[in-house]
Order: sequence, then structure tokens, then C-alpha cells
Amino acid sequence: MNIQHLTMDKIWLAPLAGYTDAAFRILCKRHGADVLVSEMVSADGLVRDSRKTEELIHFGEEERPYAIQIFGSDPLIMAQAAEYCLRFNPDLIDINMGCPVKKVVKRGAGSALMTDPPRAAAIVKEVKTALGGRVPLSVKFRSGWDANSLNFMDFGKLMQDSGADILCLHPRTAKQMFSGTSNWQHITQLAAQVSIPLVGNGDIASPEDAMRMYQECGCQSVMIGRGALGKPWLFSQIKEYQTTGRYSPVTQNKLHQTMLEHIDLALEHKPEWVVVKEMRSQLCHYIKGIVGGSRLRHRINQCRDAQELIAVVAEVGILTMTDS
Ligand SMILES: Cc1cc2nc3c(=O)[nH]c(=O)nc-3n(C[C@H](O)[C@H](O)[C@H](O)COP(=O)(O)O)c2cc1C
Repeated sequence: MNIQHLTMDKIWLAPLAGYTDAAFRILCKRHGADVLVSEMVSADGLVRDSRKTEELIHFGEEERPYAIQIFGSDPLIMAQAAEYCLRFNPDLIDINMGCPVKKVVKRGAGSALMTDPPRAAAIVKEVKTALGGRVPLSVKFRSGWDANSLNFMDFGKLMQDSGADILCLHPRTAKQMFSGTSNWQHITQLAAQVSIPLVGNGDIASPEDAMRMYQECGCQSVMIGRGALGKPWLFSQIKEYQTTGRYSPVTQNKLHQTMLEHIDLALEHKPEWVVVKEMRSQLCHYIKGIVGGSRLRHRINQCRDAQELIAVVAEVGILTMTDS
């Protein structure tokens, strides 16, 4: 796929391990997301025991354009994993250089790579060679390891010079994890410095936020993660806002129907017992801000099968919303 098609004024759904499975990705796509990214996939896992890891990769035609995100620290294993991913025919391969989670960082992967730029560059070069121009390559990273090592400018430039086709910046440090606010000035600075497309990410929770990121930062695309949880319609609201300057609030009926659609999609992709367990955290995001939400949350957590879940969700249709 042409890089322009992936990046010119596109809205990406961020990878969120544990949330952005096929059901949620498809839901977001139906509600206006342009580019979808898999949950992060271990390169070591793919190369060693591919069957289990492959479950995270599978996607349907409805999900295109689709990126598979891999993480790891060994350039040759990353290259092998990227090549392996090509048999699934993705539209893009993304390398995770931003994950701050301990079990990833202690293996030298994710955001740990920002402390070892030569290794990060070697990974990009090897993966690029393995892809052989068949699909573009993107790199997702943070502002730096901590406040004393903000190296996103040099790092971004190095990733570009090593062969990345697209960059994605989440402007927090690894040490910050997800606390505080992201520093959009870093996106602005990087966008002015690199010649390849930049996807801006961090704290977009409304159409106004998305527009502000485009206008203030000069990035080609925006990426939304947590803001879409329980609000998959955010993508279409952003598009409506971009074209008309206004957007439709979400009605109670739409909220209810979207929750049901999410459960249906989940049941199409996973066994019922897994859906009942995993939908607890997903559904709780939808009912934030509605009157009676905490009682519903408690009941959702007690559900034992999909039938019960659907019955509890039906009550959302009759509760009062306080926030759209
Ligand atoms: C629960 C959770 C899981 C995440 N999983 C991934 C992941 O698998 N790969 C990745 O690059 N980033 C991951 N991230 C980071 C997000 O993609 C994104 O960069 C970050 O949440 C900031 O964007 P947001 O404010 O729009 O959520 C995760 C974040 C959260 C909260």
C-alpha cells in the first residue's frame, strides 16, 4: 500500500494490548478509523512458537489497511519475525519502540531501545531489508527514556535514516508510563525535522483534540488509543467535525446498539467464556458517565454468559446519559 494512503490525514487506532483485538478493531473501522494496528506481537514468540503468537496477528479484509506491530531486541530475530508476518499479507509492519512495561523493557525491547539507538537502527535496517520493499515500515516510539534523556529528535531522524517509512510519536517518556499529559510540542518539533510522514499520538479524547493536534503539530495523521475505549464513534465524530465544524452527540440508543454490536463481534471471534471475561473491562468504558453506571458495572462483572451480558446491557437503553 502506498505510504500516502496510510498517512494523508488518516486517523489510526492505536495498538492497545488487551483491548484492540479483532472485535474492537472492526468496530472502530465501522465507526470511521482509517488504519488499524494489531496488539504488539513478540518477535521471539513468532520465531519460536508461532502458533500461539499468531492468534494476535489474524485479521480480516474488513480491517485493511492493517499493520502488524512486532517487538523485540535482536535485529536478526526481528527481521525473521517481520518476514514471517508477510505471509499474513499486512499493509504495514510497525516496530514497537515505546512500550514502557517492565517485562518488555527488561528484555531490551520497547522503549528500552531508545536508550540504545545503534541497536534500534540495526533493527530498522534488518527489518527493512527483510521486507524488501513489499510493505512499508513504521516505528512507534516515545519522547525518550526519562526527562533527562529526551532524544526523540535524534532518534526520529536516526529511524528515518535507517529506513523507516513512517514515524509515530507518543510524546511521554518511558518513565512517565501513562501518567501526566503528553507533550505535543515534541510532535511539532519532530514533524518540522523529518521528511517522512509523522503520526501524532497522545491524549486525544475528543474531535476538538484531534483537530488541535493536526493544527498545532503539523503531523500528517493522528492516532487514538484510550480515547476510543467505550467511544468507537469518536473516529466518525472527528471526520464530521473536520468537514462541518460540528459533530453529532451520541444518543442513548446508539450507545446501547454499539455495546451490543461489540458483544456480537467479540462472539464471532472468541469463545463465549473468553468474551464474557474480556468484555467486562471493555463494557465498563461505555458506561462511564451514565447515571447508574457503577451499579451496572457491578452487574456486568457478575455475568456468567453472553445472554446475561446482553440482558444487563439492555438496561443501558433505559438509563439516563449525563455525558456524550
Ligand atoms: C492498555 C494499553 C495497552 C497498550 N498496548 C500497546 C501496544 O501493544 N503497543 C504500543 O505500541 N503501544 C501500546 N500502548 C500505548 C498506546 O498505543 C498509545 O501510544 C498510548 O496509550 C497514548 O495514546 P492515547 O492517549 O491515545 O491512549 C498501550 C496503552 C495502553 C493504555
